[in-house]
Amino acid sequence: MLPEYMLTYPTVFAAGDSYQIFVPFSDEVILWIEAGGRKFYDHCCGILRSGKRMHKAEIPMRMLDEAGEYTVVYKKMIDRRPYFPLSEPERRLTLPFRPVPAEGDINIVHISDAHNLVAEPVAAGQAFAGGPDLLILNGDIPNHSGCVENFNAICEIASGITEGQCPVVFARGNHDTRGICAEDMPHYIPTVRGQTYYTFRVGCVWGMVLDCGEDKRDTNEEYGGTICFHEFRQQQTDFIRDVIADASREYEAPGVRHRLVISHIGFTHIDRPPFDIEEELYREWTSLLREHIRPDLLLYGHYHRVEICPPGCEFDSQGQPCTAIIGSKPIFDKEKGNGFVGCALTLREDSTVRVLFRDHTGSVLTDEILL
Ligand SMILES: [Fe+2]
Repeated sequence: MLPEYMLTYPTVFAAGDSYQIFVPFSDEVILWIEAGGRKFYDHCCGILRSGKRMHKAEIPMRMLDEAGEYTVVYKKMIDRRPYFPLSEPERRLTLPFRPVPAEGDINIVHISDAHNLVAEPVAAGQAFAGGPDLLILNGDIPNHSGCVENFNAICEIASGITEGQCPVVFARGNHDTRGICAEDMPHYIPTVRGQTYYTFRVGCVWGMVLDCGEDKRDTNEEYGGTICFHEFRQQQTDFIRDVIADASREYEAPGVRHRLVISHIGFTHIDRPPFDIEEELYREWTSLLREHIRPDLLLYGHYHRVEICPPGCEFDSQGQPCTAIIGSKPIFDKEKGNGFVGCALTLREDSTVRVLFRDHTGSVLTDEILL
């Protein structure tokens, strides 16, 4: 049972060296998180924030991993006047936290393209008794960014699958870039140095999140001249090169046993017009991955289907460095009811991967071992 005003369990995003913990509320509150004997405030230059209903506190990963639990502390504001502001007494919620293990099998749930569905992707994500070790939310979780309420779907799905007790990785999708609130999204999702592309390290898993932005050219009339994703993708080419230059602290760091590359759009696939964009730039990304980073898996959403795509298959236009998994299929059906197929992965100690495509009723459509 959630305490008053808290809309979902916290979402513990893993990004860079930190956990960024987001909690949505129904009312104006101030918030901090206690872990390992320290307090981590949601503040702006020393001012505790209460103007937005989404709250965020950042904690160094090592501190929360060692603490194994955290407490969300908040107070509802009654009157935030300039002098002697009034608030209600503190409310507290303490939760256990399971870091991703440093060895052994790692259970991952991958959900994308929920397009504001919540109950169905949450049901599809119940693949592991006791919950997964890591949840990956891979874009288009809200239907669009036309209103801030749509962003709640992110925390609602994470809450339903993790209950705030394990890390979550987030990648932005192309529908997330549409609407007046898209520019405000970093108040609702994790970023590193203000960017939606970054690397992360959880237990024995290293990962890189890339953000292709939109799926058509910046000049497409659908966007009315409001985007500059070509520039943004060029920035990421430099970012990938920087990661390679720092390999010994990134994917070659001691203890890394699995390497994932996560992107909403499958940049190794050249789609039909008008989605056939950035062939040269995406070829460069693909060859940098193939020649240097050598990931174990590419994880994609976007295509509203579930599929295992080995190198050389029809989907592979650019020379994939490894198998790609397209890992979610939303089902919109007004007559029979909505549904969802998600993906569950087990990264096994012997370097094989078990892939399950599982729907909201618990039926397993695919159960394969990748060697
Ligand atoms: Fe998409």
